[in-house]
Amino acid sequence: MIRINGSAARLPDDPRVSLLDLLRERLQLSGTKKGCDQGACGACTVLVDGQRILSCLALAVQYDGCSVTTIEGLAADGALHPLQRAFVEHDGLQCGYCTPGQICSAVGMVEEVRRGVPSLVTSDLCAETIALTHDELRERMSGNLCRCGAYNGIVDAIAEYAETAR
Ligand code: FES
Ligand code: FES
Repeated sequence: MIRINGSAARLPDDPRVSLLDLLRERLQLSGTKKGCDQGACGACTVLVDGQRILSCLALAVQYDGCSVTTIEGLAADGALHPLQRAFVEHDGLQCGYCTPGQICSAVGMVEEVRRGVPSLVTSDLCAETIALTHDELRERMSGNLCRCGAYNGIVDAIAEYAETAR
C-alpha cells in the first residue's frame, strides 16, 4: 500500500510500473508530467515523505508504505499552495508543462536548504545555515528544465516563497 496525497492506494502487481505511470495511467493524477521519461528534465518530480524524487526513475513498488505528494496534493482545501500563488504572481510559467515538477521540486529544495544540505556551489560546507542565494537557487533547481525559458519568473517565485517559508 502507498499513500498518495493522503489517500491509500494499491501498489501495482507488475513490479516494472514506474511511480510516474502509477500516478498518471492508473490513478489519473495527470498533474505530474512525463517529459523525457529518463531522468533528464524534472517534469515528473514529486515528493516522497517530503523529499523530491524523479518519479519516472522510480519503481512504484519501491515506495511501499511511503507517502507521496503530487501537485494535486499541494493545494489544501481548494486554496493554492503559497508557491503556486507565487508562480502566478511572478509569471513563472508559459505553457505550464514543467510547472508541476518545478513546484514540487522547489518545495523539496527549500526544505533541503533548511536542513543544511549543501549543493555543488555551497562554499562553506561547515556553515550552520545556508543562504539561498541566486546561484544556490539556480544550481539546486538545475534538474528542472523549462523549454519555454520562463526561468526569470520561476526563480523570482521560488525566491519569494523561500523567504516566507523560513
Ligand atoms: S520525465 Fe522524469 S525526468 Fe523527465
Ligand atoms: S512553462 Fe513551458 S516548459 Fe516551462
